[in-house]
Amino acid sequence: MSRLDSAIRRLQAQRACLDWAVGELAALPDLATAPVLELGLGNGRTYDHLRDRLHDAHGDHLPNREIFVFERKVAAHPDCVPDAAHLFEGDFRDNLPNALARIGARAGLAHCDIGSGDAALTKALADFVGPALAPLLAPGAVVAADQALAIPGCQPVPLPDGVAVGRYHLYRMASG
Ligand SMILES: C[S@@+](CC[C@H](N)C(=O)[O-])C[C@H]1O[C@@H](n2cnc3c(N)ncnc32)[C@H](O)[C@@H]1O
Repeated sequence: MSRLDSAIRRLQAQRACLDWAVGELAALPDLATAPVLELGLGNGRTYDHLRDRLHDAHGDHLPNREIFVFERKVAAHPDCVPDAAHLFEGDFRDNLPNALARIGARAGLAHCDIGSGDAALTKALADFVGPALAPLLAPGAVVAADQALAIPGCQPVPLPDGVAVGRYHLYRMASG
């Protein structure tokens, strides 16, 4: 498989998992106003996708979902930068532990896109993010992630058709 093929498959898997997660969230009335978390803004591609899909999923009659973004240093397309109230700029390690107080409610969906070219650093970051994310998730919340995460209280969920095992990861928090 060429590197282009591999990149395309990764992006297709990412989109399929995000769309699955948005669909699950839309079907959970208890989480109708639960916020969404995006860890890793990057150039804003997946943030923009979530914004787009969450809006579609809920129609005009429900309030737009609040999306809170965590990113070390914002360098996204200007159209894809959240306002200051929805941005935790800085290291995940500094911001995740105190985030619930500022967000004010546990999330119904979290997307973690945190990988870099350094496998050891990425593994260490994933080892931190899994446990740090758990207190931010509502019962029944869904998580999509580019890395395998050990999130206390969450179980893995089968991937959508066409997504190879290990290419992306889905989890659901116990419903309480
Ligand atoms: C793979 S990119 C995200 C791509 C993005 N989801 C998109 O679709 O454009 C990973 C992002 O995570 C951020 N990141 C990595 N480690 C971090 C850390 N410890 N704290 C905060 N942000 C971090 C990087 O700065 C980078 O923007």
